[in-house]
Formats: sequence, structure tokens, C-alpha cells
Amino acid sequence: MPIVSIAREGDIAVVTIDNPPVNALSQALRQALLEAAETLDADPDVRAAVLLCAGRTFIAGADVTEFGKPPQPPHLPDVIARIEAAAKPWVAAIHGSALGGGLEVALGCRFRVAVADASVGLPEVTLGIVPGAGGTVRTPRLAGAVAAVELATTGKPVRAPKARDIGLVDAVVRGDLRAAAIAFAREALGKPLPGPASRRAVEVPDPAFWTGQEAAIAKRARGEIAPLKALACVRHAVEAPFDDAMVFERETFLALRGSAQAAALRYVFFAERAAPRPAHLAGVAPLPVRRAGVIGGGTMGAGIAAALRDAGLPVTLIERDEEAVARGLATVGAIFEGAVKRGRLTDAQAADRMAGISGTADHAALADVDLVIEAVFEEIGVKRAVFAQLATTCRPDAVLATNTSYLDPRAIAVGLPNPGRFIGLHFFSPANIMKLLEIVPVPETAPETLATGFALARSLGKVPVQAGICEGFIGNRILKRYRAGAEALVRRGVAIAAIDAAMRDFGFAMGPFEAQDLGGLDIAFLQREGARAAGRDTPETLGDILVRAGRKGQKTGGGWYDYAPGERKPLPSVTVAELIAPAVAGGETLPRAAIADYLVAEMAAEGAAILAEGIARRPEDIDLVEIHGYGFPRWRGGPMHLRGAVGTQR
Ligand code: 3HC
Ligand code: NAI
Repeated sequence: MPIVSIAREGDIAVVTIDNPPVNALSQALRQALLEAAETLDADPDVRAAVLLCAGRTFIAGADVTEFGKPPQPPHLPDVIARIEAAAKPWVAAIHGSALGGGLEVALGCRFRVAVADASVGLPEVTLGIVPGAGGTVRTPRLAGAVAAVELATTGKPVRAPKARDIGLVDAVVRGDLRAAAIAFAREALGKPLPGPASRRAVEVPDPAFWTGQEAAIAKRARGEIAPLKALACVRHAVEAPFDDAMVFERETFLALRGSAQAAALRYVFFAERAAPRPAHLAGVAPLPVRRAGVIGGGTMGAGIAAALRDAGLPVTLIERDEEAVARGLATVGAIFEGAVKRGRLTDAQAADRMAGISGTADHAALADVDLVIEAVFEEIGVKRAVFAQLATTCRPDAVLATNTSYLDPRAIAVGLPNPGRFIGLHFFSPANIMKLLEIVPVPETAPETLATGFALARSLGKVPVQAGICEGFIGNRILKRYRAGAEALVRRGVAIAAIDAAMRDFGFAMGPFEAQDLGGLDIAFLQREGARAAGRDTPETLGDILVRAGRKGQKTGGGWYDYAPGERKPLPSVTVAELIAPAVAGGETLPRAAIADYLVAEMAAEGAAILAEGIARRPEDIDLVEIHGYGFPRWRGGPMHLRGAVGTQR
């Protein structure tokens, strides 16, 4: 099948793009589209053209694989200008996603029709760039400046019905898209044609709109450049003539395309797409998972149950007794109620989610589940007892998974009659929100069990990363080194608040000490105490000193910081300074960038050790863990991506 083919339905030409997997606008496709516009203009029998895509989606955007290379003609803005200037009107017929350059092509068409579940958007900022072919210039002319700012600065797509409401799409069609688009084109030919998007008038918001947006976006972006640049492009688009705005947008696009942030975001884009289907599992069929069980309805069990329900799986939740069952179900219910309050679910959807989950203390209810995820107390004896019971109650082929954070999965699996079906599935809290899933096989884990872990991640919309067995797997092990590095700086005299501020400047939502105050210092403390009790060499940390003094974080009114009653604002603490004074030598001050460089280098060094030991399979996996589990700023690409370049990226 040629990349672009032209068929005829009477006087309507149907231009079909077939460039798998997502019809990205490669150089060859741009060239073929340009030629199609020429061909159709020269054909006296054609009165209109429908632009359709084969496969799973409309054009998903520019070809991101070309971004590392010099742009090759024909350039997309010229192709779109040619389509817009065509003597016969073009109708974009959208299914799947019309994203970035894909939406820009559609905006160059005279009309846009879409099926109801299609979505359109300008996700360029998520790749560290701005639209480069008129997205910020034509969108406000069709949908207004406010909608254009929202689309271009957040990168979030909208569904077809919303796109129609804001004026970006002319009609939402039912049934066969090809036939509907042809019918739409015929009808349109019977009426006066609207002008092309480039010639439409645009309402100019007052200056306060822009300053308000600028402040809000800068706060959200935390150092990320592209969203503010996208705002500048939309402002230019409504305040300057069309041609000037196109030049401004293209220059901004080209400058950002070569930036370190764009390179980092592209790297993450491809790492995320590679993660769910690792090469070493190619050809290994996962086991079907149609029903799932969760043991333990606490923080993690409830979150995991919610995540499984979000993916449509019926769930059996097991707790210790009826009272605990009721508590666990109430926790799951609260998760869905929260989602309703935030507008993420309707009441009916929340009710449906709950209807698909049954709670019981009786393991017999697990007789027919395909997968069980254990999330009981972090105690080896409790976990072993649970798996001993699962071995007798579940089908012999059911996958049995543990969500342990720190215990050795091999020790949990001891005595299982069929350890080939055992695996660690380490979720992050809140489990229904956090995208990361560490998948931890034991030596006996069968390939199809491992593949099932990855398949589950795909169906839950998680980013899976395979981890080997060591204390803390990949993420918590790096977290430990990061915290130790931060404490080392405090011991050198660097102010606690300066370290947190440095990491916020770097792009984290919170610094290491603020984050501990929020989550509680006692969990890591208890784990260290356990290691000490087991005779492992575990030096006293500054955090230990605080916990021993009763300072466990916000929940006890203070941790690394003091907190005014009912307040969450961290206040530097004289008590803490006094408590740790004997361990602090010197009064070093460091610039914020140097603090961040040091701590990121610590993370990268631990990452390098993790790779060398085979705990992680690829540096990309480590970066995905940090980005999706620990709030590492995505636009920096992760500690491994930055390795060797820390300090030059700022
Ligand atoms: N360029 C090149 N390859 C792309 C691509 C793109 N824009 N978008 C997706 N792909 C590739 C993926 O890498 C993957 O390749 P693989 O099979 O070899 O791993 C394959 O297409 C399928 O991608 P997904 O696994 O993501 O498929 P889904 O069906 O889950 O999702 C999608 C489809 C929603 C289109 C999703 O791929 C997506 O969001 N793509 C990115 C869209 C985007 O960011 N577009 C803007 C590009 S920038 C731009 O257009 C600039 C312009 O203004 C000039
Ligand atoms: P939690 O204390 O909130 O919940 C544990 C639940 O397990 C309780 O509701 C308890 O009643 C139940 N339970 C205990 N023994 C049971 C048994 N024999 N049968 C059925 N239910 C039983 O603990 P949380 O935080 O949910 O942690 C659970 C597991 O998840 C632990 O292994 C923990 O290390 C791990 N984990 C925790 C994370 C977190 O952020 N809290 C993150 C990732 C993993």
C-alpha cells in the first residue's frame, strides 16, 4: 500500500494515508501529501477531498524519530499551507488521535469531522517543544485564545465532542467515518464555503489574561521551558498578523527542538514506549488474567484493588476478619468517592467499580482467580503464612504476587509448591494513581509469569520496570542513597531548608526533607532498626536521632521542620538544629545548583552500581523508576540521562 493513495467517490476524492504504526508525518509522507494536493487541484473532476487515515489512528504528529536530525523539506508548515490553499476544500476525517502535526494538518483542511471517541490535541510541550506548523496560530482562530492556551500549554488532548463544542471540529459523526465524511463534504459543497482558518478573525484577550496565565504556568512548569513558550506563541498568534505569528512559532519550535529539555523528553517518550514490551520477553505469551484477588485491604491493598477495578477486572479482597473486610472496602470506596469529587468518575462509574469488588475473610473465594496480589503487613512470617494458604486455595496455575517493599521475595516464596508462578509486583502509593510498577522475578519465576506481570502493567496503564533482588529494589535503593547524600550535606553544615529549596529549583515538587516529613520518618527508621536487630551494619542516621526524639514528621507536629498546629508550611527548627548539632561539622554553604548536582550525581552513582549488578536491565529503566515513582522532573530525563551532563543542563 503506498503511503498516500487517492480513490474516487464520484466528484469526491478520498486521500488515504497509510504510514504505520501511527501515520506520523515523516519526510516521505509530507512529500506525498504535497503531491496529492497538486494532483487533486489539477483534476477537474474533483470538487472536494476527504483526508482519511488507515490503521489505528489519524496522524499522531510529526515523526519524533526525525527530531534529532536537521529538518528535511518539504517542511510541514508548507505542506499545510498548500492544503489550505487548495482549490477544492479538504475535509479531515479523524479517528483515533489527531495530535500535534496531525491536528495541524487537520486545521489546514477546510473542515474537520471526527468519530465520537477520537481525540485531538497539541501535545508538543510534553516533548519539550511547541507546535511547529501553525498549531498555536490556527487554533485560536477556530477555538479562541482561552482554549488554545489550554491545549498548547498543557498538551492535554480533548475528545471529539468537546472539540466540537469549542469550534475545533465541525461535526462528530456516527457510523462509517469514510461514508460520513464523504456525505459531509457533499453537503458542504452545497453551501457557501467558510474561509480557511488562517483568515479567520480572532478575539484578543486583555493583557491581564496573559499575565495571569504566565504566573500560573510558570508555577506549574517548575523550570520546564516549553509551556511558557507555547503561551508566548498563542499570544503572538492573536496579537500579530497570521504570517508573523507563523514565523514566530516556527522559530520558537526550531530553537526548542535542539534544546536539552526536548532531548530529555524525547528520550523519556521512547523509554516509556519500550518499557511495556521488553525485548527479552518477545514471543512469551502472558497468562490470561480475568479475575484477581488482593490480600490485605490497607493503604496498598485498597489502592491496588482500585487500580484493578479501573482496568475492569473483578476483584476479591481478602482481609483478616469481617471488621477488617468492611474497613478495606470502605477504603476502596473512599478512593472512588474521591475520584467522583475530582470529576474523574461519575457516580454511576464509581458504583460500578464497587459492584465489581467483593470482600471476605474466606480464602475459598480465591479458588478461581487468575492472579493474587498480596499486600499484608511487611513481616516475613505473616507473608509466608499467607502464601502457604494461597498455595492450597488458588488454582495451581494462578500467578501469586507480593507487593513487598523491602523483604526478599525469595524468602517469601520459600516452600511454595510451584514457585514458577511467584513474582514480586511492587506498586507505589497511591497504587491507583502512581504509574510505576517494579516487577521482581525470583530465580524460579517462569517466563510466562514474568510476561503476565508486564501484561498486567499494560492493562493497568502502568510503566513496568523489571528489577532484580536487592534491598529496596531499584527505586527505594536509590532513594536511600539520595537521602544519605542529603544528610551528608547537612553534616557538612548545609541548611536543611537550602537542600529542599535546591531540589525544588531542580524540578522536584518537594525536597528530600519535606518529603520525609510528609510521609513520616518512622517507616524507614523501623526498617533500619529491623536491620540492626538482625545484626546488619546500619549506621545511625540523623533521621534516627529525630525519630528517637519523637519527631516523626507532620503527623507528630514536627520532623525535620516544625509545623504550626494545623499548618503544612515547614518552619526551620531550632530543636532540630540542637538535636543534630553534635553530628554537624562545619558551616558549609553551597549554591543551590551545586547541591542539586551533588545529589543527582549520588543517585546516578547508585544507578550505575544497580546496573553493574544487573538489578536494572537498562539505564532507561532507572530513569523511568525515578520519574514515575519518585517525582524526578521528567524534562530532565532522569539521573542516568543526566549522568555526565549534570550541571551543564541548568
Ligand atoms: N513519531 C514517531 N513514532 C511514534 C510517534 C511519533 N509522533 N508516536 C508514536 N510513535 C511510535 C511509538 O514509538 C511506538 O513505536 P514502537 O511500536 O516501535 O514501540 C508506536 O508508534 C506506537 O505508539 P504507542 O505505543 O504510543 O501506541 P498507542 O496506540 O498506545 O498510542 C498515540 C498512540 C496516542 C498516537 C501515542 O503514540 C502518542 O501519543 N504519540 C505521540 C503523539 C505526539 O506527541 N505527537 C506530537 C509530535 S510533535 C509534533 O507533531 C510537532 C509538530 O507540531 C510539528
Ligand atoms: P497497611 O498496614 O496499611 O495494610 C496492611 C493490611 O493487611 C491491613 O489492613 C491488615 O489488616 C491486613 N492484613 C494483615 N495480615 C493479613 C492476613 N494474614 N490476611 C489478610 N489481611 C491481612 O500496610 P500497607 O502500607 O498497605 O503495606 C502493605 C504492603 O505493601 C507491605 O508489604 C508494604 O511494605 C508494601 N508497600 C507499601 C507501600 C506504602 O507506601 N505504604 C508502598 C509499596 C509497598
